[in-house]
Amino acid sequence: MRSSSLVLLLCMLNVSGQAQATRSGNGMVVSDNRLASEVGVQILRDGGNAVDGAIATAFALAVTHPQAGNIGGGGFLVLMDSAGNATTIDFRETAPLAASEDMFLDAEGNLERTTGPFGNSTTANHAGIKSVGVPGSVAGLYLAHQKYGSLSWERLVQPAIDLAEDGFALTITLANHADRFEAHAEITFLEEFFNTEEGVPAKAGEVWCQPELAKTLEEIRDHGHDGFYSGRVARKIARYMRKEGGLITREDLESYRAVERKPVSGSFGGYQVWSMAPPSSGGVTMIEMLNMITVAGTTHGGAMTETDSCSLEDGLPAYNSAYHVHLLAEVMRRGYADRAFFLGDPDFYLEMPVIEMISVDHAAELMATFDPCKASVSDSSEFNQLHDGANTTHLSVADRFGNAVSLTTTLEHSYGSGLGVPGLGFLLNNEMGDFNPVPGVTNSAGLIGTPPNRIEPGKRMLSSMTPTIVSKDGVPVIVIGSPGGRTIINTVFQSVLNMLAYEMPVDQAIEAVKIHHQWLPDRILYEEELLSPGIVVTLEEMGHTMVPVENLGRLMGISIDPETGMMTGYSDSSSPDGAAVGY
Ligand code: GLY
Repeated sequence: MRSSSLVLLLCMLNVSGQAQATRSGNGMVVSDNRLASEVGVQILRDGGNAVDGAIATAFALAVTHPQAGNIGGGGFLVLMDSAGNATTIDFRETAPLAASEDMFLDAEGNLERTTGPFGNSTTANHAGIKSVGVPGSVAGLYLAHQKYGSLSWERLVQPAIDLAEDGFALTITLANHADRFEAHAEITFLEEFFNTEEGVPAKAGEVWCQPELAKTLEEIRDHGHDGFYSGRVARKIARYMRKEGGLITREDLESYRAVERKPVSGSFGGYQVWSMAPPSSGGVTMIEMLNMITVAGTTHGGAMTETDSCSLEDGLPAYNSAYHVHLLAEVMRRGYADRAFFLGDPDFYLEMPVIEMISVDHAAELMATFDPCKASVSDSSEFNQLHDGANTTHLSVADRFGNAVSLTTTLEHSYGSGLGVPGLGFLLNNEMGDFNPVPGVTNSAGLIGTPPNRIEPGKRMLSSMTPTIVSKDGVPVIVIGSPGGRTIINTVFQSVLNMLAYEMPVDQAIEAVKIHHQWLPDRILYEEELLSPGIVVTLEEMGHTMVPVENLGRLMGISIDPETGMMTGYSDSSSPDGAAVGY
């Protein structure tokens, strides 16, 4: 057993964040937790490919990063293999078969309010037993393994079982959560989540074990997909749902399937960008925005002149200039408006105009209204946006064979619904909150009721997750993604742009200032410490509403030199426990 002081020291190291890029020629894993990254790298060392590494890391995150790593949620995986073939696995949660489009409405047709995990008043679509979607993570990881893995399934799940059974030193981040839950959580499962055998929350540096989660993971190790969706685990989930008034049944679990889908793709400056297609809005919106940047560079680049009202540069705007931020915000405004109007689950909305949306012609149409000197106006009488969860997690993997995997997974809110089935040891998502909850009501008070993303039985809720791979001549050169709810698309977009257009190395691209505009509310969020006050004033003069925030995104990225194969990994300094680990 480790001495407590050594454990505390390791814990302190664990929480210090990753200030330096990691370089390696053989394999790289970047995730929100160092132990999980190390699990993934060991798999690569043992001969596993990037898919194997990603699966093992994802299961390890379900143990060491329970706020977002999960087996009770869902996500998306983007793969590019060494031959340049790209594909994706969609393991987004689905609405239970008993769900209906008005399930979160009160008798007057308003979005019902309920009590959240901390006794807070919140909307019913984001809290309580009915906010849980049918989990997809185990199905997705299993499908990825069946189609693209190379080591045995058991080998990939076992490290997570070991971490759950033997425990690991609780980081300061998790210990702070444990204290908060003990003091404030109103859900027994959450309140007791970090308890040790003695029935008290583990402290920073103490070894925290999860024997119930270990047992659940053993079922998954031994029975694969069926270990979660049939048998003991499924029976317990269904029984719990019946008892608590939830909707998920044995049939929901038995019928859940992860789906392999074509990625969406676009080109930018000689590179090919691959990302997640609907039911994530991430890939389509990011490619639309990259196309608009291309259009802006072509149509305005050489022709721009300095005027009294604004100052313009030729070609690409100077990085971090007022025009740079203005252009990004205007591009985001247009991309997010399209996202809201057009995107949903492709299995339910067959006419979704994805091909048109990612065409350069469409970008040119959208940019026809772009004024280089003045902010446009988003029409809030027509539309507004709901808050969505900012607690998701991303992992990037590259192997020595030339394969790369970009995987984002989520419980929606941090620790999801806060609910869990007694005896199973894992948290359930609250992903039903990502559907449009009030049909037909789209207003400035914060509701979206447009049809593509309304609740239907078996349907996947629209996501913003944007796991992305960029290739050059068929070879992956960037693997990246981020948590952050609706800000995800913009933080990934800006990081990719920083690398491709501004030639920043991956660490700089991740640390560089980020802004966020999502059409409505009509405002620019910006990282306060990274944008100069003078630029903020100029942007306000152009008509933008500027709102400072501490941080946007928590990116996990790898860049790969196509000549030498050298990989550079970087975990955003905003991730307290994250790490890039290579070998
Ligand atoms: N739960 C956040 C998202 O899927 O975008």
